Amino acid sequence: MNEIQQLNEELATQSPRAIMKAALTRYDNIAISFSGAEDVALIELAHKLTDNLQVFTLDTGRLHPETYEFIERVRTHYKIDIQIMTPDAAELEEMVSKKGLFSFYEDGHKECCGIRKINPMRRKLVTLDAWVTGQRKDQSPGTRQDVPVVQFDDAFSTDERTLIKFNPMANWTSKDVWDYIRMTEAPYNKLHEKGFVSIGCQPCTRPILPGQHEREGRWWWEEETKKECGLHAGNVIATAT
Ligand code: ADX
Ligand code: SF4
Repeated sequence: MNEIQQLNEELATQSPRAIMKAALTRYDNIAISFSGAEDVALIELAHKLTDNLQVFTLDTGRLHPETYEFIERVRTHYKIDIQIMTPDAAELEEMVSKKGLFSFYEDGHKECCGIRKINPMRRKLVTLDAWVTGQRKDQSPGTRQDVPVVQFDDAFSTDERTLIKFNPMANWTSKDVWDYIRMTEAPYNKLHEKGFVSIGCQPCTRPILPGQHEREGRWWWEEETKKECGLHAGNVIATAT
């Protein structure tokens, strides 16, 4: 068993706070990847543990106005810097000039997510030793049921650099996260008051109806196992094998 598998075993049954604390203690060069949704709980947890919090977000250019407002609210509420990663202008111009602004409805979200999310994410992650995400097992029965609390990041590690990924909320349910947000009076995205549960880009996210799974509001025109944009590609590889 390697060192990270061992750490995962040790932390697997611990609280998100304990997992976050272990992550921040072990790694200085670590950042929270904040999507502008209920993963604000990560920031709420971490800001109580360190004064040296690194947070970044991917501004795809296609977020809801409510999400932009929320990111700004989080920045001022916690008095933190949030690094905003943007897509490469030349890559984006080429795609939208050739294929229009809604090509993902025609040929799937992979290309657009690649340019608007994955490439900026890679640019950020090569500067880090470890990152922290808000992934949870209950987010997707199709792709996330095996998310560990800490793992080697197969998708973004390189030959020169090993990247570690922490998922402190892996074992929390949506209700656990929301109980925590309410208990701590953390700010939240106003879209949650309008029936949105899982929140991504505006053209690729819709509210869900009672009884629907949260992932049904994302890329609804695509089949269940494709509902990963590549930020967490390891999940799809893991479930496909
Ligand atoms: S996605 O891969 O389907 O888009 P999801 O919305 O479930 O991911 O979010 C899971 C975690 O991925 C978030 O808690 C966050 O850590 C990271 N993430 C997703 N979208 C972004 C984003 N736009 N910016 C930064 N991190 C993100
Ligand atoms: Fe593009 Fe939709 Fe992916 Fe956002 S979620 S990057 S709009 S395909």
